[in-house]
Amino acid sequence: MKGIILAGGKGTRLDPLTRITNKHLVRVYDKPMIFYPIQTLLNVGITDILIVSGPGHAGQFMELLISSPEFNGTHFSYLVQKEAGGIAQALGFAEDFADHSKTIVILGDNIIEKNIKNAVDDFSTQPKGAKILLKEVEDPQRFGVAEVKNGRIIRIIEKPQDPPSKLAVTGIYMYDGEVYDIIRTLKPSARGELEITDVNNAYLARAELTYEILEGWWSDAGTHESLRRVDKLIAETGANHPG
Ligand code: G1P
Repeated sequence: MKGIILAGGKGTRLDPLTRITNKHLVRVYDKPMIFYPIQTLLNVGITDILIVSGPGHAGQFMELLISSPEFNGTHFSYLVQKEAGGIAQALGFAEDFADHSKTIVILGDNIIEKNIKNAVDDFSTQPKGAKILLKEVEDPQRFGVAEVKNGRIIRIIEKPQDPPSKLAVTGIYMYDGEVYDIIRTLKPSARGELEITDVNNAYLARAELTYEILEGWWSDAGTHESLRRVDKLIAETGANHPG
């Protein structure tokens, strides 16, 4: 399996930190943010990683990762998403890289405490489709939210005002090679973006979407508040435990 880290976007929720650099290069605890999703992939044995970033920043990622001995032996590829057209649009650019194989896709600002190896092992034996990771949160209206009945997801709603559950869809997704055909059918949402939630709902409609509840803490780090929270969590327990 290969890994894809989506590290584009304008990072406006972290202004002014993101005025001259990419959100995923901002400090989280003692490292640049992008180090965490990379480690999440390395912990499940993935060493072939594509980084999709925005205009003006791909060179910064390249320079950072080339000069980071932590990642010796990891093969990085880079792609630039010219406009901020949404997570699903960014993923669409990765089709050649994925080359019909199964991939793990991580939003570059998603940081986790533990290892997702069990979920990845399950997905590698899943004949087709997708798997997502859910986590109970106190502020579900900030995320994609899944409604689960009898152990099955019945729908996913993007940033609902009135969430049907507290189960947020984390930014860690596993897809088979069909995901690119699905992305081609998507229409932009009200915010003008191709939504990853629409991709997951398309798999749901095919009855090919499985899920697991993520163990340990999970946080995005895309706002000042969540960045402070994740700093605190890492100080208390560390992140990306290998076991
Ligand atoms: C995105 C997704 C959302 C998901 C979240 C996880 O939201 O659209 O479904 O729950 O990532 O971090 P965004 O952070 O782009 O607003």
